[in-house]
Amino acid sequence: MSQSRIFSLPGYPVSVGDLSAAFPAWLRERQFSSLVVLADSNTRRLCLPVFLQKTGLPSGLPVVEIPAGEAHKNLASCAQIWQSLLAEKLDRHALVLNLGGGVVGDMGGFCAATFKRGVAFAQIPTTLLAMTDAAIGGKLGIDFQGVKNMVGVFQHPAAVFCDPAFLQTLPPRELRSGMAEVLKHARIGDPVLWRQLARLRSPGAADWPRILPKSIAVKVRVVRRDPLEKNLRQLLNFGHTIGHAIESRWLETSDPLTHGEAVAIGMICEQFLADPAGAAQVADVVLRLFGHRPLPEPEFPVLWDLMQQDKKNTAGAVRMAVPSDGRLGLRILAPSREAVAESLRFYNTLAAADRKNFRHGA
Ligand code: GLY
Repeated sequence: MSQSRIFSLPGYPVSVGDLSAAFPAWLRERQFSSLVVLADSNTRRLCLPVFLQKTGLPSGLPVVEIPAGEAHKNLASCAQIWQSLLAEKLDRHALVLNLGGGVVGDMGGFCAATFKRGVAFAQIPTTLLAMTDAAIGGKLGIDFQGVKNMVGVFQHPAAVFCDPAFLQTLPPRELRSGMAEVLKHARIGDPVLWRQLARLRSPGAADWPRILPKSIAVKVRVVRRDPLEKNLRQLLNFGHTIGHAIESRWLETSDPLTHGEAVAIGMICEQFLADPAGAAQVADVVLRLFGHRPLPEPEFPVLWDLMQQDKKNTAGAVRMAVPSDGRLGLRILAPSREAVAESLRFYNTLAAADRKNFRHGA
């Protein structure tokens, strides 16, 4: 594959395809005083060599390395990044290249957007989750006092480059986690993509160079219409109100769920609250790709409390954004505690129909 598809958002391009076609041409037309790569310990090892080979950039390019993982998406890591940028003597005309998943992109973007009141940064996502969601749309930030993305800003990157070649570096469970966002985009805005995904047997069998641009196209359409999440962009939170609560609760156990595994359950439950008939369709696809993980009933009050802490709520009500027509129609629900419990019970009843329980491979 050597072609790239370019989407444009106000102020920046999103290139989907081979980096070696798109990146050097983009860079040639710009004058940055210097370049620095931000990577984590995994992407430095697995993705940096591919990035340098594809872009033709010199192997001596300065690299700032941070430890991998959500636990490091915090103020202490920002201090380390700012110190490294200072040590590299970065001026305001430099470019920071964020090579990694959501943590590198969100935190690297935040550090660049605030360093010397803002230097340019490009997002080079290396996970499916970051390619299809986090890298696009200018949401940047870090976790603070245990709350995800509590401190941050909206700021456009100079460009985003999504190269499906990096997906080959991902463990299967990480690929499946990103699959939830791809399913979400299909469900909220692309019925044809949804039907294609409904036939897929496993994330590893997906034709990413074909599917990725379609998924990204939905995200781009939403962000273009509502960059600052005043209305339509809330639709990108489909599955996330219940999903985030499940993700946070299971983080405290010895068997945590990935973000995507939790959001996949959240999509079934939230679709049930919006339209029980549609929930069977969502469940069918999600169970085939994700399996089933029972939610013990004594956990329901804990999950409800976590949902009440969600940033999207107003005046104590739990709010969730659900698709109304599969073509970017948005409906906001404010379900009662009992209705949410009913949706979690519905999910539990699906165990019998499950083909396989949650497995960490495949
Ligand atoms: N991840 C949701 C959004 O970008 O709005």
